[in-house]
Amino acid sequence: MTYKKALVCLSLFIFGAAGSQAQVHHHVSLAASIANGKKVYMQNCVTCHQADGKGVPTLNPPLINTTYVLGDKIKLIQIVLNGFNEDVLINGKSFSNSMTPHASLTDQEIADVLTYVRNSFTNKASQVSAKLVKNVRSMNKK
Ligand code: HEC
Repeated sequence: MTYKKALVCLSLFIFGAAGSQAQVHHHVSLAASIANGKKVYMQNCVTCHQADGKGVPTLNPPLINTTYVLGDKIKLIQIVLNGFNEDVLINGKSFSNSMTPHASLTDQEIADVLTYVRNSFTNKASQVSAKLVKNVRSMNKK
C-alpha cells in the first residue's frame, strides 16, 4: 500500500467513526427518565394538572387514563410542543382553560416528562425517546 493510499484509508476511518458517533443517541433508562421527568413536571405542568395528575375540574383535564396520555406518542409530543386548545372531550368532560406551548423544553426534557406522566397516576405505557421528540419537532417546522 502506498503512503497516500494509507492516509486516505486512515482519514476515511476517522471521519467514518466521527460520522457514526454523531448518530448515536444516548439511551436513558426508564427509571432515570421517570425521575428526571418528575422534576420537569413539577416545574412546568403541576400548576395546571396538579401533583396527583387529576387536574382541576372544568379548567384543566386529568392526565389519568386519557386517550392522549396512553395513545399516539406523536400527538402527545405535539401537545407539549404546541400547546392544546381544542374543543374535545377528555374522559367525557370538556375543559375551558387552554394549554400553553412548551417548545423551550429540550427534547430530553419532553421525553422525560411524558415518560413520567405515562408511568404515574396509575398509567402504564411505554417510554418516550428524545429521538422521537426531535423528529416531531423537525416535522413541526416544515
Ligand atoms: C396553563 C395550564 C397548563 C399547563 C402549564 C400544562 N397544561 Fe396540559 N393541558 C391544559 C389544558 C387546559 C388542556 C386541555 C385543553 C383543551 O381542552 O383544549 C391540557 C391538555 C393536556 C393533555 C391532553 C389531554 C389529557 O388530559 O390527556 C396532555 C397530555 C397534557 N395537557 C400534558 C401536559 C404536560 C406534560 C404539561 C407540562 C409540560 C402540561 N400539560 C402543562 C393545561 C395546561
